Amino acid sequence: MQLARPDMEGAERMPSAVSDLTPAVLRAAFATFPSGITAIAAVRDGRPQGLAASSFASVSLCPPLVSVCIARTSTTWPALRSAPRLGLSVLAAEHGEVARSLAARGTDRFAAVSWERTAQGAVFVHGSALWLDCSRYAELPAGDHEIVLLCIRQLRAYPEVSPLVFHGSRFRQLRAAGTEHG
Ligand SMILES: Cc1cc2nc3c(=O)[nH]c(=O)nc-3n(C[C@H](O)[C@H](O)[C@H](O)COP(=O)(O)O)c2cc1C
Repeated sequence: MQLARPDMEGAERMPSAVSDLTPAVLRAAFATFPSGITAIAAVRDGRPQGLAASSFASVSLCPPLVSVCIARTSTTWPALRSAPRLGLSVLAAEHGEVARSLAARGTDRFAAVSWERTAQGAVFVHGSALWLDCSRYAELPAGDHEIVLLCIRQLRAYPEVSPLVFHGSRFRQLRAAGTEHG
């Protein structure tokens, strides 16, 4: 892979290309891309079940689709995938502990989370920036993950709520760029 022409200004400062694409190398590379954090959850077997996912993306307006990538190793997704509705909450800046809790293993993930459910079992986290009430639309195999397309049935947006940001394997908060306070 040629990353820069030798005659390019500053080319000597370009890091050398890495072709040994180990999971650690890829995780570190992907971590340079900031994302939000979502909670994907539904009531299954009479209790809320869900997981934290940073792989959320908007996909289509017509039909209204979003996607998340779910690891094939997920033990929660098999329960969620048959749910009639899935709640997707875009977590807020103060939801760092919620995100950690929703990724923890061997615990009641919702024990310390304030949440509510719809009649059809979609579970939403209180205080989020966005709630999407979704049904499963399609699932595409993608390596060690599944790309899950979700169809939005209804939504509630709270644009005044500042989102939680995941970058460099850390939770962060947004700060406006280029303002007099920047
Ligand atoms: C910040 C963060 C982002 C995550 N994003 C994803 C994701 O996009 N897809 C995924 O499958 N797991 C993701 N996880 C891991 C899941 O939340 C969860 O830990 C994993 O699915 C294992 O739990 P399970 O076996 O109950 O599914 C993320 C975890 C954290 C802390």
